[in-house]
Order: sequence, then structure tokens, then C-alpha cells
Amino acid sequence: MGVSSTVPLLLRAARGEKVDRPPVWMMRQAGRYMKAYRDLREKYPSFRERSEIPEVAIEVSLQPWRAFQPDGVILFSDIVTPLPGMGIDMDIAEGKGPIIFSPIRTQAQIDNLRPLEPETALPFIKTILGSLRQEVGDKSTVLGFVGAPWTLAAYAVEGKGSKTYSVIKNMAFSDPAILHQLLTKFAESIAEYVRYQIDCGAQVVQMFDSWAGQLSPQDYDTFALPYQKMVFDLVKQTHPDTPLILLVTGSAGLLERMATSGADILTIDWTVDMADARRRLGKDVKVQGNLDPGVLFGSKEFIRDRILDTVRKAGDWGHILNLGHGVLPETPEENVAHFFETAKNLNALV
Ligand code: CP3
Repeated sequence: MGVSSTVPLLLRAARGEKVDRPPVWMMRQAGRYMKAYRDLREKYPSFRERSEIPEVAIEVSLQPWRAFQPDGVILFSDIVTPLPGMGIDMDIAEGKGPIIFSPIRTQAQIDNLRPLEPETALPFIKTILGSLRQEVGDKSTVLGFVGAPWTLAAYAVEGKGSKTYSVIKNMAFSDPAILHQLLTKFAESIAEYVRYQIDCGAQVVQMFDSWAGQLSPQDYDTFALPYQKMVFDLVKQTHPDTPLILLVTGSAGLLERMATSGADILTIDWTVDMADARRRLGKDVKVQGNLDPGVLFGSKEFIRDRILDTVRKAGDWGHILNLGHGVLPETPEENVAHFFETAKNLNALV
């Protein structure tokens, strides 16, 4: 069919075309559960090196591609990678995640933030995405990703991962004006970053609002949703044809709200049955997900049955098969291989 046959499966499904089987990839498909990644980590112990030296980041991104041929190949990076370009210095500590050296707590610090200029601050992204496109050609879809304003603000204000979000909630619930300024700055810079990733070759971009599920629905409406929408609206103004995915962790109480964000596709985590998600969202909303990452600790039959169950419930349109969140570090590689093999042979099984 001429041109359309050269468009990879995931991109076609993300655009809303009917496809023979749901495309499949895994969040965090590059990482610690893979021996090849752990070996490379010995040689490059710093996460920033692994993700910012183009040759290394390309190699890590391609490890799951070579092992499993997923329908999506995601850039190896982190949501906090653009922060230094705005004047927020950080590192990513093994086993802990992002550490912000001077957490943002004052008006003066917010005034001092620079708008992100991706070409100068993140030149390695261009090399990485360009190489990934070249490497996978038409056989897979290259995904970019960013953090959403609320989740980036949570790291910037707390200074690290948090269980309680007490510092940013203190700011939100006692001095909201200052937080709104920070969220606006993040939204503008993140929109620029998404545009840059698309210009560098990303065919689909996923925005992670990982910690927005920590907000009550009314606070999600105030501090998360408007800024998700700001990013998506800004990107759509210049890049209307690139599908955009939204993930919120713990989103069962937020699905209908997420659907108003302007995202093209919503990630559904495993706290919601896929059939319920479809009912609640209606037939026009595309979805991604939603197996419990823990399913990959089960037997081969169990993994297959859960894939079939999810695919049947999701129906034959607008579904990207994935876990509901990232693959866990202890996951057996052979179960990941089995997941991909089963998913890619689905039209023979369903
Ligand atoms: O999906 C992929 O394969 C791309 C890789 C990816 C990483 N981080 C690499 C990484 C993606 C999409 C991210 C996004 C990210 N980073 C999110 C959103 C996704 C989510 O989990 O909700 C968040 C919240 C972060 C912040 C962050 N960075 C955390 C919480 C951690 C883990 C801390 C730990 O050690 O458990 C990191 C570090 C990180 N980023 C790792 C990886 C593979 C683990 C460190 C390592 O493998 O060396």
C-alpha cells in the first residue's frame, strides 16, 4: 500500500489506524533487569554519562531492540535531564533517583531560572535520536519522552524523590502563586524540549506525570492538568501530527480528567481493569497498557493469559500494549522475551 506500508506499526496505531495486532513496547525496557545494561554500567558508573554520552546512550537504547525487537524504541534518558539547562543542577544517584543540589524554594530562585534552549543545552539528544531512527528504520517507532511540569516541580522543590510530597504541598497549599510561576516556566521549557525531540526524530512522545496521582482530583485540576494541557497545546501548535502519550501513576481516580489534557493516548495502569477504562473513556480515546509489571514474575502461561485478557478487553482499535508502569529491575529477561514473543504473535492466538 505504497507510503503507508513504510510507516511503522506503533506510529500507525498511535495515529488511530486499524492494525492487525496491537504494537508492543515496555516502559523502562532498557535498564537494570538486562545483564547487558548492568555490564555497561560497570564501565560507565554515572547515569549522566550513560545517558549523555551519545554512543553509550545509543547502545543502551538499542539493547532491548536487539534482544526483543519491540515495536517502540525509547530514548535512554531521564525526565530530569533538561533541568541543568534551566539552571537546576542535579545528579541521578544509584538506587535513589534524581538529586537536586539546590532545591527551588524561593521567588528569587524561580526568577533566576533560564528558559531551556534545547539545541545548546541538550545537543546529545539530536545525535541519539538521529542514530536510533537510522538504526531501526521502518521496523520500529522511536519514542521520545519528557517529565510533566508537576512531576519536575516535585523533584525541583523537594530536592529528591519523596513519599509525602510535604515540601511541594506546603508550597501548593500556602503560597500557590509561586508554584504556579514555576509550573508555567516548566511547561514552556518542556514544550520546547518536546518540539526539539520531534525535530530530532522522535515519532511519538510520552509525557510522564508520575507524581500527579499523589494529588487529590481537585488539586490535580489546579496544579497538574492545566500544565499538561499547556505543554500539549504548545506542541500541537507547531507539531500537530506527532502523537502524544500521557502517563500518570495511580490514575484510577483521574482517567476522565486526563482525557481533557489534550493527549492523544492515555496510559492506563493496572489499578484499573482495561474493560472499565474503555467504558469510562469512551470509544474515541486511545489507550496504552496495562499489565501489572509483577505479571512478569509469573509463569509463561500466566503471562500469556494476561496479555490475551488485556488485548481482548482493549478491543481492536487504539491500543498500544505495554505494562502499566516500568519493568522492574528483578524481572527475568526470559519472561520479557516471552512477553514480546507472545504479543507479536497475537493475531495467531486471539
Ligand atoms: O523507558 C525507558 O526505557 C527509558 C528510560 C527512562 C529512565 N527514566 C531511565 C532510568 C525513563 C522513561 C525514565 C523516566 C523517569 N525518571 C520517570 C518517569 C517514569 C516513572 O517511573 O514514572 C521518573 C519518575 C524518573 C526519575 C527517576 N530516575 C527515578 C525514580 C529513578 C530510579 C531510582 C532507582 O534507582 O530505582 C531514576 C533513575 C533511572 N532512570 C534508572 C533508569 C533505568 C535506574 C538507574 C539505573 O538503571 O542505572
